[in-house]
Amino acid sequence: MAKAAIDQDYLTHSDCTSLDHIPGTDGIPYFGSSLSTIYNLPTLLDRHFENWGEVSRIKILHQRGLLIQGEDNYQRIFLDTEKNFSTEMGYAESIGQFYRGGILMKDFGDHRTLRRMMQTAFKNAAMKNYVAIMNPVMQKNIDQWDQVDGFQFFPYIKETLLEIGAKVFIGIELGEEADRINKAFLDINDGLLGQLRKEIPGTRYNRGKQGERYLREYFAKEIPKRRGSDRQDAFTYVCNEKDENGDYYSDELIIPQGSFLLFAAHDTTTSLLNHLMYYTSIYPEWQDAMREECMALNKEFIDYEDLEKMTVLDNVLKETLRMRPSVPMHGRRTINECEMSGHRIPADTMIWIAPWHQHYNPEYWTDPQKFDPERFSPERAEYKNHSFCYHPFGGGAHKCIGLHFASMLTKTLMHQVLMKYNYSLPEDFEPRFEWAPLPKPSKLPIQWQRR
Ligand code: HEM
Repeated sequence: MAKAAIDQDYLTHSDCTSLDHIPGTDGIPYFGSSLSTIYNLPTLLDRHFENWGEVSRIKILHQRGLLIQGEDNYQRIFLDTEKNFSTEMGYAESIGQFYRGGILMKDFGDHRTLRRMMQTAFKNAAMKNYVAIMNPVMQKNIDQWDQVDGFQFFPYIKETLLEIGAKVFIGIELGEEADRINKAFLDINDGLLGQLRKEIPGTRYNRGKQGERYLREYFAKEIPKRRGSDRQDAFTYVCNEKDENGDYYSDELIIPQGSFLLFAAHDTTTSLLNHLMYYTSIYPEWQDAMREECMALNKEFIDYEDLEKMTVLDNVLKETLRMRPSVPMHGRRTINECEMSGHRIPADTMIWIAPWHQHYNPEYWTDPQKFDPERFSPERAEYKNHSFCYHPFGGGAHKCIGLHFASMLTKTLMHQVLMKYNYSLPEDFEPRFEWAPLPKPSKLPIQWQRR
């Protein structure tokens, strides 16, 4: 069996030229199918499935590879009992360019070590502190939203989440330091979109690389200050965590996690909240149902213990992620040759997976095009129809470590929004869905009516 060296130079993987035996398309010259992944991902995914089935050839971001769909294939990839699917290699050409060393870009034993190290930042005690930190920040921001002329949801929620990220993940207040960190972080994310992958002054990629260096240096300098301190942000929790021998984890392991946590948390929750506001504006009966549940709690700020009582919001959130998953594509590379849906897949093949076809498969979901949060109720529980028909948070070893955090943030924020406002969209509003750099309905001109 052919085997690709996992420790080969980070960026020199095969360009997957040996995939001609698999049907599919290389797309248009130079761009491949990259533009469709940005402008019309669902159509691209459906077209591949209809034309070529669960496994098809595709070219994205100058990389040739395979688009894999289908619940059973996903079960195999996510659970990866054969240790055949590398995230480190799968993300090397995309987010690995700026977030190398981040937990998602580590495989197997190395990944397990990081997961153990980071788990401390997601324990109940930590989560309780985060709710308390978030509530006043949300209040200050949300309270101003109805004062803004020409309000659009995206820039305001982004700003709010950046402020929350600085406080909860790094433990810093708004000010020059937070501004510099947020700028570096936004430069990196913009750099991810740069087509020219060279450090040439003036390019997005170059600015992103400078941002990456800035953040690495920042987090390296912070580690000694955080050790032994009782600060209650995620980064400090990780700095203070000890391994099974009672020693602190090395700086080298910790540094990349600082910026990767910001990245993993920010766009994903921004996307979720944009879609959730969209659906609950156009289906006001769900807005009313969520509000009723919030009012029953009868308090200005919710506590951690209230989260599990918010079942309507929970179902709305889950249905939003079914219909519009925040992470629309994931990357892997095969380490060994394998077989999927009857196709031989060579070692070192780039593969893309997408939470889409499974989320709309009528075998598992009743009337899948309908926004129907009730399908997540215990009585219907349609997501249980297959272990991998619903996977907005991925699965297996790399399953989102922040999934409860995401739900907590969404519920805490929506509780305040719903208690303060009724909201709607203009009657003539026509959504246009975007897929990159993050999935969202473009321009959400929410209208607020203070309650
Ligand atoms: C709606 C919100 C979110 C969604 C849909 C989401 C989705 C995902 C997905 C699909 C993965 C797996 C990627 C893969 O297997 O290739 C993942 C991993 C990850 N997520 Fe999230 N995420 C969300 C929010 C968050 C938040 C708020 C945090 C941090 C507080 C976070 C931290 C992470 C981390 C650290 C990983 C890597 C885990 C590992 O490799 O072990 N995510 N997320």
